[in-house]
Amino acid sequence: MCGIVGYIGQKNTKEILLEGLKELEYRGYDSAGIAVLSDGVFSSFKATGKLINLEEKTKDFTTDKFAVGIGHTRWATHGKPTELNAHPHVGENSYIVHNGIIENYAELKKALIDDGVTFLSQTDTEVIVHQFEKNLKDADDAFSAFKKTIAELEGAYAVLLVTKAENNKIFFAKHGSPMLVGINAQDEKYFASSDTPLIGHCTDVNYFEDGDYGYVSHGDILIFNKNNQQKQPHFVKLSANKLSAQKDGYCFFMEKEIYEQSNIIADTLLGRVTEKEIIFEELDTKLFEGINEIKLCACGTSYHAALTASYIFERYSKIKTSVEIASEFRYREPIMTKDTLFVAISQSGETADTLETLKMAKEASLKTLVICNVDNSSMVRLADATILMRAGVEKGVASTKAFATQVTVFWMLSLYLAKLKNSLTQEEIVHQLELLRAIPTSVKVENSMHERIKRLSKRYLHGHGFFFIGRDIFFPLALEGALKLKEISYLHAEGYPSGEMKHGPIALADPELFTIALLPEHLLYEKSKSNIEELSARDSTICAISPIAFEKADDFIQTKKQKDYMLEFFEIMVVVQLLSFEISMRLGNDVDMPRNLAKSVTVE
Ligand code: G6P
Repeated sequence: MCGIVGYIGQKNTKEILLEGLKELEYRGYDSAGIAVLSDGVFSSFKATGKLINLEEKTKDFTTDKFAVGIGHTRWATHGKPTELNAHPHVGENSYIVHNGIIENYAELKKALIDDGVTFLSQTDTEVIVHQFEKNLKDADDAFSAFKKTIAELEGAYAVLLVTKAENNKIFFAKHGSPMLVGINAQDEKYFASSDTPLIGHCTDVNYFEDGDYGYVSHGDILIFNKNNQQKQPHFVKLSANKLSAQKDGYCFFMEKEIYEQSNIIADTLLGRVTEKEIIFEELDTKLFEGINEIKLCACGTSYHAALTASYIFERYSKIKTSVEIASEFRYREPIMTKDTLFVAISQSGETADTLETLKMAKEASLKTLVICNVDNSSMVRLADATILMRAGVEKGVASTKAFATQVTVFWMLSLYLAKLKNSLTQEEIVHQLELLRAIPTSVKVENSMHERIKRLSKRYLHGHGFFFIGRDIFFPLALEGALKLKEISYLHAEGYPSGEMKHGPIALADPELFTIALLPEHLLYEKSKSNIEELSARDSTICAISPIAFEKADDFIQTKKQKDYMLEFFEIMVVVQLLSFEISMRLGNDVDMPRNLAKSVTVE
């Protein structure tokens, strides 16, 4: 998804912008660009593809004195990923970068064309810079023109604009897309669409609120709110810890992130699991007073974690639970009653569809909880309460450790609620707590297991489709396994409930249909086995993942004996993650940045 950086200061602006964009790379993008204004002269560069192309184009360009600069990584929405469509977009004397979507761009564009303006790109963004320059002609100063322009925009945006009309300022506006400004002792000012580019450069940051706009110069930060009232920046400390993970010898971040799940989950559990109970210091039990139902809402992998949660909330906490895909929930005029706790799940906390459903729940006066990985993200700031997943920065676009920590949090939450609602005996809770503490061991990657999967993967590079099948919580895991494979191998895969195959998909069964069967020992083993046998009888190629040898399978990945199906869930999760990873590696794909995908989808 698009990323924004900006800088005002004396240092090498180009380097700072490129370094900042590098930190945003993991979000997914298809072109990038920068514009630097120094001594009243603009220098702008754009390139399609990876940042290295932009680095190459800018290699002879440096700035060694005061300059203002903006940069952008673009994930195409309006118009193809071409150089012309890459940001920054130019008017006569100004450049702009933008995240989000301008919904009324077509009408603004038409009026500008009627006025004789020529457009270079197919983007919605370009209208903003031309509209600004049009307004500048009749305005007293650049800020008045900028203010007028912003008031004319509909949609979602985070915008930075630099102009020769006032060549020491960066104008900004935020509405629906994240943006922050950071400062340091050297009086430099940094902008970005998320924390990471600022870490190591800034000590304090101000997160803009929806409706904020203003400008930043060398000495000043001027912010106005949506009611046009000036407000003081609200600075908070930025962690000095350089979170930008290195690959630690792994070929891809995804592999590293699969391997680190054991340590990461230990962090998620830290201080929250005692001998007797689950403690969430961040939660007030009042949040659950008067609650008779939980509604979980999310997208993508987070949706699969939510589906998993729905089984264990009903099973352990005995609370009615429903799950919603955020983009569907938004427009289906849902009935929301105040005895429902609305839970949004999002690794990034910025996914536009999920964020909107959270706003809907707030508007309907529901109590809200967010399960999120990014503190200070939009969702965290909006919700009544938050549980942080503590997964660390996840760089692989295909989510792995975030999913693992989401399910861990949900398991803990189901026991927390079970205690509140007396739905499990203390003895049962203590037993579950013991199991929880075993997750880090269950997700440790054994060399022999990885080697086996690596070897097997070569047989699964073709075929006319994959079915990942499972029952109960292994059904959402099957969905997640199929999603992983699709995302990074570009092979067609579906997740399906094992018992549902006979109601249609079994018609596809032949040796070129690959069934990845999730077959845990401790949950509906016999039932699942029969379903797999039905497929095997019709000659589908079966790869079974189970602790119990299964002679009807063509391939077999043996997992360890676990005490409980929840621990089997975590171990099998690692197996399906590694299987997708190895298939993608063999196909020679860019595992961390798969085509067409973005890490954080901040448009609907
Ligand atoms: C994108 C990512 C997925 C992710 C989904 C939801 O589609 O590519 O990996 O699961 O967004 O993201 P969230 O940050 O809300 O969990």
